[in-house]
Amino acid sequence: MKVGIDKLGFYAPKTYLDLETLAMQRQVNPDKYTIGIGQKKMALPSYSEDVITMALEAADSILDESDKQTIDTVFFATETAVDFSKAAGIYMHSLLGLKPSTRVLELKQACYASTGALFMACDHVRVHPDSKVLILASDIAWYGFETAGEATQGAGAIAMVISADPKIAQVFQGKVITENRCDFYRPSYSSVPMVDGKLSIESYKTLLKQVEPKQPFNYICFHMPFAKMANKANEVLAYPIGENELNIIKDYGSEIGNIYNGSLYLSLLSLVMQAPEDLSSQEVGMFSYGSGAIGEFFTLKLEKDYQQAINREKIQSIFNDRYALSIAEYEHMMNHYKKREESSEFVLDETTIFKHQTFALVAITKGHREYKRI
Ligand code: CAA
Repeated sequence: MKVGIDKLGFYAPKTYLDLETLAMQRQVNPDKYTIGIGQKKMALPSYSEDVITMALEAADSILDESDKQTIDTVFFATETAVDFSKAAGIYMHSLLGLKPSTRVLELKQACYASTGALFMACDHVRVHPDSKVLILASDIAWYGFETAGEATQGAGAIAMVISADPKIAQVFQGKVITENRCDFYRPSYSSVPMVDGKLSIESYKTLLKQVEPKQPFNYICFHMPFAKMANKANEVLAYPIGENELNIIKDYGSEIGNIYNGSLYLSLLSLVMQAPEDLSSQEVGMFSYGSGAIGEFFTLKLEKDYQQAINREKIQSIFNDRYALSIAEYEHMMNHYKKREESSEFVLDETTIFKHQTFALVAITKGHREYKRI
């Protein structure tokens, strides 16, 4: 039985900070960010957005009535949890019109949880071939002002429907490695992650070497905490991909920034949206890395009509008409985000909702979040 990705959706906020603007403010040579780290922009959540609204937008852009009747499981992969008990997906369930009998779980293992979810979803579909699984990968990479990670922030969500006879790609099990490492973690007392960037780069490369492919691929998509990480990963491979191919798989990531769980799948979108050739029947390598740490190399085989299965116009629209924040707006917006996430009460000023948004976080009451379809 063929099992894999039937639909693939993406959302990122329109609000972004240009890395050159940040470099000037922090008195850093802009080349360090744009060339050394490889990032152009980082998307950041506007006043009414969080990981749940972003996942809602990504899912809503791909689900039809038949999906809603067939999905029986939702996996929400995030390391930006808004609750230590209640799964983020529960807030979305009725807004998306999913069946009351749907199982909804939140999964965590840094940036790897989405890939773990993908393999569990494929196994679920093999046992229940008439069912579908919705995977949501939604994160806000926020480290704080003037921190070492400030230039490698970002926000966005990926939604995938996993089914039998998938329209986009079959998924093949790969090789996985788990090692206890201290490169990146967010203890429950902290609202931002603890990150040892240099150790994380080394851990990423060490785990990759242990699962790397023994044959060449035209394209390999990488998890990218920052776009230059793909170059660093590619350099250690026995069979690296070419420079042009690397630029294709990195492009969307360099425009959006780190979206943690969605990052590898954003690299896949960058490939299927921008490859000059038809990739039908091609096998594509995928390297997933989640700090702490797990690494997995696996492959996808693109289906014949994969291009028609992707809503190209919708994906392209995310990169159009974006709103460049000034430093003052960036500071105001992220201070608002920090304050909101640390409060039990919040009421949205609804004039701050952007025109393109379909969903908004409108209130928090005694810690309970209220979302609305606009
Ligand atoms: N022109 C061109 N290049 C320049 C330059 C200039 N003027 N100035 C500096 N550079 C280059 C440097 O040579 C360096 O290149 P190499 O890495 O190839 O040596 C690069 O720019 C960065 O410079 P530094 O290493 O001096 O920068 P830094 O000390 O500020 O650290 C960073 C950079 C490690 C990426 C840091 O921003 C960081 O820690 N970011 C967070 C990283 C992160 O998110 N890690 C977690 C990743 S894992 C993950 O996402 C998975 C998960 O599960 C969470």
